[in-house]
Amino acid sequence: MTILVTGGAGYIGSQTSRLLTSLGREIVVLDSLERGNANSVFGAPLVIGDIADSALVTDLCLKYQVTSVIHFAAYKSAGESMSQPEMYWRNNVQGTVNLIEGMLAANVNHIVFSSSAAVYGNPQSSPISEASAISPANVYAETKATMERVIRWYGETHGLRWTSLRYFNAAGASSDGVLGENWDITTNLIPLVMKAALNVSGPLQVLGNDYATKDGTGIRDYVHVEDLADAHVKALDYLQSGGPNLTVNLGTGVGTSVLEILSATEKVLGHAVPHEFAPRRLGDPAAVYADATLAKRTLGWSAQKSLQQIIDSAFHWHLNQLS
Ligand SMILES: NC(=O)c1ccc[n+]([C@@H]2O[C@H](COP(=O)([O-])OP(=O)(O)OC[C@H]3O[C@@H](n4cnc5c(N)ncnc54)[C@H](O)[C@@H]3O)[C@@H](O)[C@H]2O)c1
Repeated sequence: MTILVTGGAGYIGSQTSRLLTSLGREIVVLDSLERGNANSVFGAPLVIGDIADSALVTDLCLKYQVTSVIHFAAYKSAGESMSQPEMYWRNNVQGTVNLIEGMLAANVNHIVFSSSAAVYGNPQSSPISEASAISPANVYAETKATMERVIRWYGETHGLRWTSLRYFNAAGASSDGVLGENWDITTNLIPLVMKAALNVSGPLQVLGNDYATKDGTGIRDYVHVEDLADAHVKALDYLQSGGPNLTVNLGTGVGTSVLEILSATEKVLGHAVPHEFAPRRLGDPAAVYADATLAKRTLGWSAQKSLQQIIDSAFHWHLNQLS
Protein backbone atom coordinates (compact mmCIF):
# COMPACT_ATOMS: atom_id res chain seq x y z
CA MET A 1 0.00 0.00 0.00
CA THR A 2 2.86 2.38 -0.73
CA ILE A 3 2.24 5.83 -2.21
CA LEU A 4 4.67 7.11 -4.82
CA VAL A 5 5.08 10.89 -4.40
CA THR A 6 6.61 12.54 -7.45
CA GLY A 7 8.14 15.96 -6.73
CA GLY A 8 8.11 15.12 -3.03
CA ALA A 9 11.24 17.21 -2.39
CA GLY A 10 9.46 20.38 -3.53
CA TYR A 11 7.39 22.94 -1.67
CA ILE A 12 3.96 21.25 -1.54
CA GLY A 13 5.20 17.69 -2.11
CA SER A 14 7.49 17.76 0.94
CA GLN A 15 4.67 18.99 3.21
CA THR A 16 2.38 16.28 1.89
CA SER A 17 5.05 13.58 2.23
CA ARG A 18 5.67 14.63 5.80
CA LEU A 19 1.97 14.51 6.64
CA LEU A 20 1.54 11.08 5.03
CA THR A 21 4.53 9.70 6.94
CA SER A 22 3.24 11.16 10.20
CA LEU A 23 -0.06 9.36 9.57
CA GLY A 24 1.81 6.07 9.22
CA ARG A 25 1.35 5.78 5.44
CA GLU A 26 4.19 4.15 3.52
CA ILE A 27 5.61 6.43 0.85
CA VAL A 28 8.49 6.62 -1.60
CA VAL A 29 9.54 9.96 -3.10
CA LEU A 30 10.72 10.31 -6.70
CA ASP A 31 12.35 13.68 -7.41
CA SER A 32 15.02 14.85 -9.82
CA LEU A 33 16.07 17.48 -7.21
CA GLU A 34 16.32 19.96 -10.07
CA ARG A 35 14.05 22.31 -8.10
CA GLY A 36 13.71 20.46 -4.83
CA ASN A 37 15.76 19.83 -1.74
CA ALA A 38 16.79 16.40 -0.46
CA ASN A 39 16.80 17.80 3.10
CA SER A 40 13.05 18.35 2.83
CA VAL A 41 12.44 14.61 2.61
CA PHE A 42 12.66 12.79 5.89
CA GLY A 43 11.40 9.52 7.18
CA ALA A 44 10.89 8.18 3.65
CA PRO A 45 13.05 6.77 0.87
CA LEU A 46 14.05 9.35 -1.76
CA VAL A 47 14.81 8.10 -5.25
CA ILE A 48 16.60 10.69 -7.36
CA GLY A 49 15.33 10.34 -10.89
CA ASP A 50 13.03 11.64 -13.60
CA ILE A 51 9.30 10.95 -13.97
CA ALA A 52 9.96 10.68 -17.71
CA ASP A 53 11.91 7.46 -17.08
CA SER A 54 9.00 5.00 -17.41
CA ALA A 55 11.20 1.97 -16.71
CA LEU A 56 12.39 3.53 -13.45
CA VAL A 57 8.79 4.30 -12.47
CA THR A 58 7.73 0.71 -13.17
CA ASP A 59 10.69 -0.69 -11.20
CA LEU A 60 9.93 1.60 -8.27
CA CYS A 61 6.27 0.67 -8.27
CA LEU A 62 7.11 -3.03 -8.22
CA LYS A 63 9.94 -2.76 -5.69
CA TYR A 64 7.96 -0.67 -3.18
CA GLN A 65 4.56 -2.29 -3.90
CA VAL A 66 3.09 1.05 -4.91
CA THR A 67 -0.70 1.23 -5.14
CA SER A 68 -1.19 4.94 -5.87
CA VAL A 69 0.70 8.00 -7.04
CA ILE A 70 0.54 11.64 -5.99
CA HIS A 71 1.96 13.59 -8.89
CA PHE A 72 3.50 16.97 -7.97
CA ALA A 73 6.59 16.91 -10.20
CA ALA A 74 6.45 19.67 -12.80
CA TYR A 75 7.84 23.06 -13.70
CA LYS A 76 5.56 25.83 -12.44
CA SER A 77 6.68 29.26 -13.59
CA ALA A 78 4.29 31.02 -15.97
CA GLY A 79 6.98 33.49 -17.07
CA GLU A 80 9.58 30.82 -17.76
CA SER A 81 7.00 28.78 -19.67
CA MET A 82 6.58 31.63 -22.15
CA SER A 83 10.32 32.09 -22.71
CA GLN A 84 11.17 28.35 -22.74
CA PRO A 85 7.95 26.57 -23.71
CA GLU A 86 9.65 23.40 -24.93
CA MET A 87 10.86 22.70 -21.38
CA TYR A 88 7.29 22.81 -20.19
CA TRP A 89 5.78 20.60 -22.92
CA ARG A 90 8.53 18.06 -22.34
CA ASN A 91 8.71 18.00 -18.55
CA ASN A 92 5.06 18.55 -17.68
CA VAL A 93 3.17 16.89 -20.53
CA GLN A 94 5.58 14.26 -21.86
CA GLY A 95 6.81 13.57 -18.33
CA THR A 96 3.24 12.88 -17.18
CA VAL A 97 2.55 10.55 -20.12
CA ASN A 98 5.72 8.59 -19.35
CA LEU A 99 4.91 8.48 -15.64
CA ILE A 100 1.45 7.07 -16.32
CA GLU A 101 2.84 4.51 -18.76
CA GLY A 102 5.34 3.43 -16.10
CA MET A 103 2.61 3.18 -13.45
CA LEU A 104 0.24 1.21 -15.64
CA ALA A 105 2.97 -1.26 -16.57
CA ALA A 106 3.14 -2.09 -12.85
CA ASN A 107 -0.67 -2.21 -12.55
CA VAL A 108 -0.83 0.99 -10.50
CA ASN A 109 -3.94 2.88 -11.52
CA HIS A 110 -4.68 5.57 -8.91
CA ILE A 111 -3.31 9.08 -9.37
CA VAL A 112 -3.82 12.34 -7.50
CA PHE A 113 -2.69 15.12 -9.79
CA SER A 114 -1.49 18.66 -8.95
CA SER A 115 -3.44 20.85 -11.30
CA SER A 116 -3.82 24.58 -10.95
CA ALA A 117 -6.39 27.36 -10.96
CA ALA A 118 -4.21 28.74 -13.75
CA VAL A 119 -6.29 26.57 -16.12
CA TYR A 120 -9.10 29.14 -15.75
CA GLY A 121 -6.86 31.88 -17.18
CA ASN A 122 -8.07 35.40 -16.49
CA PRO A 123 -11.69 34.90 -15.48
CA GLN A 124 -14.21 37.71 -15.78
CA SER A 125 -15.69 37.04 -12.36
CA SER A 126 -15.14 35.12 -9.14
CA PRO A 127 -15.84 32.85 -7.30
CA ILE A 128 -14.74 30.34 -9.91
CA SER A 129 -16.44 26.95 -9.93
CA GLU A 130 -15.06 23.83 -11.62
CA ALA A 131 -17.64 24.37 -14.39
CA SER A 132 -15.99 27.66 -15.41
CA ALA A 133 -14.36 27.86 -18.83
CA ILE A 134 -10.85 26.44 -19.23
CA SER A 135 -8.87 29.22 -20.84
CA PRO A 136 -5.13 29.05 -20.14
CA ALA A 137 -3.28 32.37 -20.50
CA ASN A 138 0.27 30.97 -20.67
CA VAL A 139 2.12 27.80 -21.64
CA TYR A 140 2.41 26.60 -18.03
CA ALA A 141 -1.37 26.78 -17.61
CA GLU A 142 -1.88 25.08 -20.96
CA THR A 143 0.36 22.20 -19.86
CA LYS A 144 -1.78 21.77 -16.73
CA ALA A 145 -5.00 21.78 -18.78
CA THR A 146 -3.41 19.29 -21.20
CA MET A 147 -2.21 17.03 -18.39
CA GLU A 148 -5.73 17.03 -16.95
CA ARG A 149 -7.05 15.85 -20.32
CA VAL A 150 -4.29 13.26 -20.76
CA ILE A 151 -5.16 11.83 -17.34
CA ARG A 152 -8.88 11.86 -18.10
CA TRP A 153 -8.29 9.98 -21.37
CA TYR A 154 -6.11 7.39 -19.63
CA GLY A 155 -9.17 6.94 -17.43
CA GLU A 156 -11.32 6.27 -20.50
CA THR A 157 -8.84 4.03 -22.30
CA HIS A 158 -6.98 2.26 -19.47
CA GLY A 159 -9.21 2.54 -16.41
CA LEU A 160 -6.89 5.00 -14.65
CA ARG A 161 -8.65 6.37 -11.56
CA TRP A 162 -7.83 10.00 -10.79
CA THR A 163 -8.45 13.23 -8.98
CA SER A 164 -7.20 16.50 -10.44
CA LEU A 165 -6.75 19.09 -7.71
CA ARG A 166 -6.83 22.67 -8.95
CA TYR A 167 -4.85 24.59 -6.35
CA PHE A 168 -5.30 28.29 -5.98
CA ASN A 169 -2.32 30.13 -4.41
CA ALA A 170 -0.31 27.80 -2.16
CA ALA A 171 1.23 29.80 0.67
CA GLY A 172 2.77 29.66 4.13
CA ALA A 173 5.17 27.25 5.82
CA SER A 174 4.77 24.38 8.25
CA SER A 175 3.57 25.59 11.65
CA ASP A 176 6.69 24.21 13.36
CA GLY A 177 9.00 26.04 10.97
CA VAL A 178 10.57 22.88 9.52
CA LEU A 179 9.46 23.23 5.88
CA GLY A 180 8.72 26.23 3.70
CA GLU A 181 9.08 27.86 0.32
CA ASN A 182 12.43 28.67 -1.25
CA TRP A 183 12.28 32.38 -2.04
CA ASP A 184 15.25 32.10 -4.39
CA ILE A 185 13.19 30.16 -6.93
CA THR A 186 9.62 31.36 -6.48
CA THR A 187 7.88 34.41 -7.89
CA ASN A 188 4.83 34.08 -5.62
CA LEU A 189 3.63 37.19 -3.84
CA ILE A 190 4.05 36.18 -0.19
CA PRO A 191 7.78 35.32 -0.43
CA LEU A 192 8.26 38.66 -2.24
CA VAL A 193 6.46 40.42 0.61
CA MET A 194 8.73 38.65 3.10
CA LYS A 195 11.84 39.67 1.18
CA ALA A 196 10.74 43.30 1.36
CA ALA A 197 9.71 42.97 5.01
CA LEU A 198 13.10 41.50 5.97
CA ASN A 199 15.01 44.04 3.86
CA VAL A 200 16.41 41.36 1.59
CA SER A 201 15.01 43.18 -1.43
CA GLY A 202 13.94 46.72 -2.08
CA PRO A 203 10.35 47.79 -1.44
CA LEU A 204 7.62 45.46 -2.67
CA GLN A 205 6.20 46.58 -6.01
CA VAL A 206 2.42 46.46 -5.69
CA LEU A 207 1.34 45.96 -9.28
CA GLY A 208 -1.83 48.00 -9.65
CA ASN A 209 -3.89 49.92 -7.11
CA ASP A 210 -6.65 50.95 -9.46
CA TYR A 211 -8.53 47.66 -9.84
CA ALA A 212 -12.25 47.57 -9.13
CA THR A 213 -11.64 45.75 -5.83
CA LYS A 214 -12.21 46.68 -2.17
CA ASP A 215 -8.91 48.59 -1.90
CA GLY A 216 -7.82 48.81 -5.54
CA THR A 217 -5.20 46.03 -5.33
CA GLY A 218 -5.42 42.54 -6.85
CA ILE A 219 -7.28 39.80 -5.05
CA ARG A 220 -6.27 36.13 -4.91
CA ASP A 221 -7.15 33.04 -2.89
CA TYR A 222 -4.27 31.97 -0.60
CA VAL A 223 -4.39 28.43 0.80
CA HIS A 224 -2.07 27.27 3.56
CA VAL A 225 0.29 24.57 2.31
CA GLU A 226 -0.60 22.32 5.28
CA ASP A 227 -4.26 22.55 4.28
CA LEU A 228 -3.25 21.51 0.75
CA ALA A 229 -1.29 18.56 2.16
CA ASP A 230 -4.40 17.47 4.06
CA ALA A 231 -6.47 17.66 0.87
CA HIS A 232 -4.13 15.14 -0.80
CA VAL A 233 -4.66 12.61 1.97
CA LYS A 234 -8.41 13.08 1.59
CA ALA A 235 -8.20 12.77 -2.20
CA LEU A 236 -6.26 9.51 -1.90
CA ASP A 237 -8.75 8.09 0.59
CA TYR A 238 -11.59 9.21 -1.66
CA LEU A 239 -10.14 7.32 -4.63
CA GLN A 240 -9.30 4.26 -2.59
CA SER A 241 -12.82 4.09 -1.22
CA GLY A 242 -14.14 3.97 -4.79
CA GLY A 243 -15.06 7.64 -5.34
CA PRO A 244 -15.57 8.52 -9.01
CA ASN A 245 -12.90 10.43 -10.91
CA LEU A 246 -12.98 14.05 -9.84
CA THR A 247 -11.72 17.50 -10.78
CA VAL A 248 -11.92 19.85 -7.84
CA ASN A 249 -10.81 23.32 -6.73
CA LEU A 250 -8.63 23.68 -3.65
CA GLY A 251 -9.10 27.20 -2.40
CA THR A 252 -10.45 28.93 0.67
CA GLY A 253 -13.29 30.63 -1.19
CA VAL A 254 -12.07 33.94 0.27
CA GLY A 255 -10.36 36.64 -1.76
CA THR A 256 -7.47 38.52 -0.13
CA SER A 257 -6.01 41.75 -1.49
CA VAL A 258 -2.33 42.67 -1.64
CA LEU A 259 -2.92 45.40 0.95
CA GLU A 260 -4.54 42.88 3.30
CA ILE A 261 -1.41 40.72 3.00
CA LEU A 262 0.75 43.72 3.82
CA SER A 263 -1.41 44.54 6.79
CA ALA A 264 -1.25 40.94 8.12
CA THR A 265 2.55 41.05 7.67
CA GLU A 266 2.79 44.32 9.58
CA LYS A 267 1.14 42.60 12.55
CA VAL A 268 3.98 40.09 12.85
CA LEU A 269 6.74 42.46 11.70
CA GLY A 270 5.77 45.29 14.03
CA HIS A 271 6.06 48.00 11.38
CA ALA A 272 5.01 48.75 7.82
CA VAL A 273 6.35 46.62 4.97
CA PRO A 274 8.27 48.86 2.55
CA HIS A 275 6.22 49.01 -0.64
CA GLU A 276 5.44 51.23 -3.58
CA PHE A 277 2.70 51.22 -6.17
CA ALA A 278 3.53 50.34 -9.76
CA PRO A 279 1.39 49.90 -12.88
CA ARG A 280 -0.69 46.77 -13.36
CA ARG A 281 0.96 43.80 -15.05
CA LEU A 282 -0.56 43.22 -18.47
CA GLY A 283 -3.26 40.55 -18.39
CA ASP A 284 -3.47 40.23 -14.59
CA PRO A 285 -7.11 39.79 -13.54
CA ALA A 286 -8.51 41.93 -10.68
CA ALA A 287 -9.84 39.09 -8.56
CA VAL A 288 -9.44 35.31 -8.62
CA TYR A 289 -10.86 33.17 -5.86
CA ALA A 290 -12.43 29.76 -5.66
CA ASP A 291 -15.88 28.42 -5.28
CA ALA A 292 -14.69 25.85 -2.75
CA THR A 293 -17.96 24.01 -2.19
CA LEU A 294 -17.25 20.91 -4.31
CA ALA A 295 -14.15 19.98 -2.27
CA LYS A 296 -16.22 20.14 0.90
CA ARG A 297 -19.00 18.03 -0.59
CA THR A 298 -16.84 15.35 -2.22
CA LEU A 299 -13.64 15.17 -0.17
CA GLY A 300 -14.93 16.56 3.11
CA TRP A 301 -12.10 19.11 2.83
CA SER A 302 -12.09 22.79 3.56
CA ALA A 303 -9.19 25.07 4.39
CA GLN A 304 -8.73 25.42 8.15
CA LYS A 305 -5.94 27.96 8.45
CA SER A 306 -6.41 31.72 8.43
CA LEU A 307 -4.57 34.34 6.43
CA GLN A 308 -2.76 35.39 9.63
CA GLN A 309 -1.53 31.80 10.12
CA ILE A 310 -0.25 31.78 6.54
CA ILE A 311 1.60 35.05 7.06
CA ASP A 312 2.96 34.22 10.51
CA SER A 313 4.31 30.83 9.36
CA ALA A 314 5.84 32.30 6.20
CA PHE A 315 7.44 35.15 8.14
CA HIS A 316 9.05 32.89 10.73
CA TRP A 317 10.20 30.43 8.08
CA HIS A 318 11.93 33.11 6.00
CA LEU A 319 13.37 34.81 9.07
CA ASN A 320 14.90 31.51 10.21
CA GLN A 321 16.40 30.93 6.77
CA LEU A 322 18.39 34.16 7.20
CA SER A 323 20.11 33.04 10.38
N1 LIG B 1 2.95 26.48 -5.60
C1 LIG B 1 1.75 26.82 -6.08
O1 LIG B 1 1.17 27.87 -5.70
C2 LIG B 1 1.04 25.93 -7.06
C3 LIG B 1 -0.23 26.31 -7.52
C4 LIG B 1 -0.89 25.48 -8.42
C5 LIG B 1 -0.32 24.28 -8.84
N2 LIG B 1 0.92 23.94 -8.39
C6 LIG B 1 1.49 22.67 -8.86
O2 LIG B 1 1.81 21.87 -7.73
C7 LIG B 1 2.96 21.07 -8.00
C8 LIG B 1 3.97 21.27 -6.89
O3 LIG B 1 4.28 22.65 -6.80
P1 LIG B 1 5.42 23.17 -5.84
O4 LIG B 1 5.10 24.58 -5.53
O5 LIG B 1 5.65 22.21 -4.73
O6 LIG B 1 6.65 23.14 -6.86
P2 LIG B 1 8.21 22.84 -6.60
O7 LIG B 1 8.94 23.35 -7.78
O8 LIG B 1 8.61 23.30 -5.24
O9 LIG B 1 8.25 21.24 -6.60
C9 LIG B 1 8.29 20.47 -7.77
C10 LIG B 1 9.24 19.32 -7.52
O10 LIG B 1 9.21 18.48 -8.67
C11 LIG B 1 10.55 18.11 -9.00
N3 LIG B 1 10.56 17.79 -10.43
C12 LIG B 1 10.32 18.64 -11.46
N4 LIG B 1 10.40 17.96 -12.63
C13 LIG B 1 10.71 16.66 -12.32
C14 LIG B 1 10.89 15.48 -13.08
N5 LIG B 1 10.82 15.50 -14.41
N6 LIG B 1 11.14 14.32 -12.43
C15 LIG B 1 11.23 14.29 -11.08
N7 LIG B 1 11.08 15.39 -10.31
C16 LIG B 1 10.80 16.55 -10.92
C17 LIG B 1 11.40 19.31 -8.61
O11 LIG B 1 12.75 18.98 -8.41
C18 LIG B 1 10.69 19.79 -7.34
O12 LIG B 1 11.23 19.18 -6.20
C19 LIG B 1 3.45 21.49 -9.38
O13 LIG B 1 2.93 20.55 -10.30
C20 LIG B 1 2.81 22.85 -9.59
O14 LIG B 1 2.58 23.12 -10.95
C21 LIG B 1 1.61 24.73 -7.50
